[in-house]
Amino acid sequence: RIAGPSGLVIFGVTGDLSRKKLMPAIYDLANRGLLPPGFALVGFARRDWADQDFMQVVHSAVKEHARTPFRQEVWDQLAEGIRFVQGTFDDDHAFDTLATTLADLDRERGTGGNHAFYLSVPPSAFTTVVNQLKRAGLATPPADSPGQWRRVVIEKPFGHDLASAKQLNKTVNDVFPEESVFRIDHYLGKETVQNILALRFANQLYEPIWNANYVDHVQITMAEDIGLGGRAGYYDGIGAARDVIQNHLLQLLALTAMEEPVSFRPSDLRAEKVKVLSATRAIDPFDETTARGQYTGGWQGGQKVPGLLEEGGFAKDSTTETYAAITCEVNTRRWAGVPFYLRTGKRLGRRVTEVAVVFKRAPHLPFDDTATEELGQNALVVRVQPDEGVTMRFGSKVPGNSMEVRDVTMDFGYGHAFTESSPEAYERLLLDVLLGEPSLFPKNDEVELSWEILDPVIRHWAAKGEPEKYKAGTWGPASADAMLARTGRNWRRP
Ligand code: BG6
Repeated sequence: RIAGPSGLVIFGVTGDLSRKKLMPAIYDLANRGLLPPGFALVGFARRDWADQDFMQVVHSAVKEHARTPFRQEVWDQLAEGIRFVQGTFDDDHAFDTLATTLADLDRERGTGGNHAFYLSVPPSAFTTVVNQLKRAGLATPPADSPGQWRRVVIEKPFGHDLASAKQLNKTVNDVFPEESVFRIDHYLGKETVQNILALRFANQLYEPIWNANYVDHVQITMAEDIGLGGRAGYYDGIGAARDVIQNHLLQLLALTAMEEPVSFRPSDLRAEKVKVLSATRAIDPFDETTARGQYTGGWQGGQKVPGLLEEGGFAKDSTTETYAAITCEVNTRRWAGVPFYLRTGKRLGRRVTEVAVVFKRAPHLPFDDTATEELGQNALVVRVQPDEGVTMRFGSKVPGNSMEVRDVTMDFGYGHAFTESSPEAYERLLLDVLLGEPSLFPKNDEVELSWEILDPVIRHWAAKGEPEKYKAGTWGPASADAMLARTGRNWRRP
């Protein structure tokens, strides 16, 4: 589907997200013919720029980060709709100028009074911006123009705990009705994440064994090799659990554990996610079921890298965790007794995100003991990134005269199976905002339920002070291994 007449306003347009993800995604959408011809892109920031300066910034962001080839005619058309409004968030005059700019664009470009406001700003600025939009009459379409829409897009963190998330939801919902609020969790925009639903609900093969009778445990991993240099302003005091578990990993858990939705209509899909998140909690005692770490200097990919406390901007006694792992249980008939292990970390061995469903051992093995020494547990692994695909691990006879069984894998890779390329997550999500298609955006209750799961763990950690250290380039703190070893299991080393 192609977006109808519309414009996008980005607040915080000088930030990294905007330059690396949003601007290139807009261009790629235009290049694929998915934006209306009169589309408008308005940047709002404090910087003393004219339209031309901002256009230059977008141009170089597109050149550097866009996925699709640069085509001059696409750029020229897009560039005609680019505007910049200079101001601070508490400046009434700047928001009035924004209103005039948007009205002019409606006339000149035919944006139809349909505007999305993207808040790529710190949460502390949300309230001010949202209230300014209301004051300037931008938050709702004029009463005599019923077909028009206004939408607000917000970036995480959606609060730093349950109480602040509730407060934030209230602030936003006081101005924008919930159906106009689009909370970005870019993991939901990834093809491989959406494919969890196709894998489970389009096939006969997996669903019969997708339950506690057959599944031993589930491991959800989001490992990164990058460190936090340059991100102290956002990350210090936030940490890995709030940054990633509260949103991306709990969404992955929800998609893996939820029941089949009645349909893929947004309300049906979200209803199932809400049900499964309501049944989920982090298991304690947290000293045994969770792990928390902070990286120190080490070697990675042949390069010496600094520890977190040596990265610029972090407090020298920062207790911010860069590694977090928790154990969840999902209290439903389907999942009773199956642990869901969630882990994420920076400066780990390699960059990989995956959901591994690990099955129980066969109840009986009619082989000699020595024949199955190299047989592990069956596993189905959804490889979210970077090597997108699905792997099935199972035992197979080793060729030869004796009956010996060893683990092998069967692979599906996107690169081999499809000629179509996957759109970047932000591309998909921005298009959905313009189309008013909310399926891939967590609703306020999902966000609050996720905080409810995480809050007790975060409180427990805060009381303990310093996180355990781990060396850059390793797979995290020793307590992470201990946490699984206690139950006779091991983390996968993807
Ligand atoms: C963001 C986190 O949401 O996701 C970052 O704030 C993280 O800390 C990033 O690096 C990872 O995204 P991706 O798509 O590269 O896995």
